Amino acid sequence: MPSGCRDTAPASLVSESVPSEPEQPVRPPSFHLDAIATARAEDATSGADPMALLVAALDLQAALPGIRRMRRWAHAALAVGAGERALDIGSGTGSEVLEFARRVGPEGQAVGVEPNPAMLAVARERAAETGARCRFVEADAYRLPFDDDYFDAVRSERVYQHLDDPAAATAEIARVLRPGGRVVLVDSDWQTAILHPGDTGVVARMVAAMLEATPNSRSGRSLRGRLVAAGFEIDDMGSEAVIWDPAAARPMFDEVGGTALAREVITEQERDDLVAAIEAGVAVGDYHLSVTMFAVLGHLPLR
Ligand SMILES: C[S@@+](CC[C@H](N)C(=O)[O-])C[C@H]1O[C@@H](n2cnc3c(N)ncnc32)[C@H](O)[C@@H]1O
Repeated sequence: MPSGCRDTAPASLVSESVPSEPEQPVRPPSFHLDAIATARAEDATSGADPMALLVAALDLQAALPGIRRMRRWAHAALAVGAGERALDIGSGTGSEVLEFARRVGPEGQAVGVEPNPAMLAVARERAAETGARCRFVEADAYRLPFDDDYFDAVRSERVYQHLDDPAAATAEIARVLRPGGRVVLVDSDWQTAILHPGDTGVVARMVAAMLEATPNSRSGRSLRGRLVAAGFEIDDMGSEAVIWDPAAARPMFDEVGGTALAREVITEQERDDLVAAIEAGVAVGDYHLSVTMFAVLGHLPLR
């Protein structure tokens, strides 16, 4: 990780990236994951700050070996170099923008786009603590406030699953990338979720409810096709079955269980029995939760 980052670009960089006005309808950003945290915090028994919960969940996930390996693969594949302009869409806590900052150096630009102001504040605060050269912009994937052909490289990780219109977001990536520009998209395919131990029928109904409740839950398998449809040429694909440890899995399990209960596809007794089975499994080391992530590297043809 870089030793420093700051949250705003120097004046010269800001003036180079005057927001353009793409002629597109303004779409409401999809904050589905944030809605999860908000809903949980509204639970009278919780009382926790929703953003703190969300950030803590992202930090736990970022520490999972599978996610770390996938990120290393994606950065190596994208091969952002000194002096380039690199964008992370849905940048979350900003960790991968810091990695871009390290790679682009003083002559380049490392930018994160994130529609959630509270998440942006976290990213900016963390970046400021390090002093590296990067910036974070409040915007969403459907309307990137940059000129055509502006960036050399774009990444987006675990964002497409939250998008109601991933094709529109991919067209926006193609617009802001220069000819020959590279993109890497990383996302989960939640139908690959495996949870053990527990009643497989209950687990299947929970997963089905989660698939229905997430706007683009099978995103991982569609990334290649989305890039091809937007005019990209495909260079490589990667995958990683992310193995979740119990601490990282618990918030997600609670959420998925809550969704399944609300949709009345499992009973409270079934949920409680599943929790008991998993806790017993964790206690003896017989536990597994994994979800496969896929990544696709592509580039725009030269004009
Ligand atoms: C699971 S988090 C992933 C964050 C980060 N990319 C990472 O890998 O840690 C999903 C992120 O997508 C963002 N997001 C949701 N809807 C979005 C949209 N329409 N445009 C851009 N980002 C969006 C959320 O605010 C959140 O930061």
